[in-house]
Amino acid sequence: MKTIIEPFRIKSIEPIRMTTREERRELLAAAHYNLFGLKSEDVLIDLLTDSGTSAMSARQWSAVMLGDESYAGSPSFTRFEAAVRNLMPFRHIIPTHQGRAAEAILFHLLGGPGRKVPSNTHFDTTRGNIEATGAEAFDLVIPEGRDPQALHPFKGNMDVARLAEFLAEHGEDVPCVMLTVTNNAGGGQPVSLENIHEVAGLAHRCGKPFIIDGCRFAENAWFIKTREPGQGERSVTEIVREMFAEADGMTMSAKKDAFANIGGWLALNDDALAERARTRLIQTEGFPTYGGLAGRDLDAIAQGLTEIVDEAYLAYRIRTNEYIGERLMAMGIPVVRPTGGHAVFVDARAWLDHIPPLQYPGQTLACALYEFGGVRTCEIGTVMFGRSPDGTEHPATMDLVRLAMPRRVYTQSHADYVVETFGELAERKEKLPGYRIAWEPSAMRHFTARFAPIQ
Ligand code: F0G
Repeated sequence: MKTIIEPFRIKSIEPIRMTTREERRELLAAAHYNLFGLKSEDVLIDLLTDSGTSAMSARQWSAVMLGDESYAGSPSFTRFEAAVRNLMPFRHIIPTHQGRAAEAILFHLLGGPGRKVPSNTHFDTTRGNIEATGAEAFDLVIPEGRDPQALHPFKGNMDVARLAEFLAEHGEDVPCVMLTVTNNAGGGQPVSLENIHEVAGLAHRCGKPFIIDGCRFAENAWFIKTREPGQGERSVTEIVREMFAEADGMTMSAKKDAFANIGGWLALNDDALAERARTRLIQTEGFPTYGGLAGRDLDAIAQGLTEIVDEAYLAYRIRTNEYIGERLMAMGIPVVRPTGGHAVFVDARAWLDHIPPLQYPGQTLACALYEFGGVRTCEIGTVMFGRSPDGTEHPATMDLVRLAMPRRVYTQSHADYVVETFGELAERKEKLPGYRIAWEPSAMRHFTARFAPIQ
């Protein structure tokens, strides 16, 4: 088969400022070995997140100029609403400035002390918004979804038997059943159409609304098309419509699968709940025809939604991570398998096995990738999850490093360069130091903690 090419030409570019390893070593020390402290112009390849970092198309930039900034009744909203509804046929589509704002509104209405919200795996802002209301968040992904090496086509699936037990035990306290597609916190792993139907059916038999966190819906649909028996001949658009057909609502970050730099929405079918959501929206985000967005943002999203279901794009998108994953595995580097939709997750604890979890092997790998290659990634491990609210520390379940791919931004030679940087590290990985935390804030420490290498 021929190489799967980037299905676009480059019309406008952003130069990358080249730096040397010596410069980066100093920049890293000045940032206290926390990659969130770097200036982005000092990064060669930025794989910190796929969120809001997409390259917009010429048509999206044209749509930006058509944005209508009227406070109420803007045609930009009408175009946005129609584009969402074309894929996800919800009755009420409520724009928000990003995904977590939609979550905050939803759980302001459905959360509260004693409430229990199950999902395959809640993303951390979703969990945060649930817990902020005094409710509890539960992750019920299938066992394979917790094992980095287990091969399963749909590692993001909900464990339906556990969900049934959960609903039997806590039925009264469960305000809704959620499902995150793809399962970001579990490695960007997809959920099958069969599982979506089972979860929806179970939720409805128990009288619970079924809500999808749809941030990466198009990537999920591509996995369904290519992996689920009987789906190969259907279009991604048809699959997307079926994914959402039985849902009662969704939360969405348009910074992912809508190619936008900002934006999101909350969609609902229940009229009374939507009414309350709009009231809250006016208090916290803005009037219901703009949410927290400018009209031009709504137009960029509307156009982005027509592009994200393009199958040539999705083939290239999913192949990029698979390609990086294959090359890393060929070098003996343990990655979460199969590679996910938006990112490659490297098992730093397994690869840098001379560094104990409480010396943060993920932080070591992330710092080394920056020093040697100027590649910025994100630790997802003991730095992020290892500190309990009482201040004690324990190893996280895994110490991973996430290489999240911005959409349509990097080419295959950028991918090759990232792999080569790993190759350089492989030769000296035993010499890489662990880290200790020199200072940390009381919560969310990964964003601002200061580290020092352990000599
Ligand atoms: N849900 C999922 C599954 C996400 O991955 C994110 C964001 C959100 C909700 C929140 O959306 O950022 O627009 O408020 N994930 C980004 C990431 C930040 O890097 O994975 P948001």
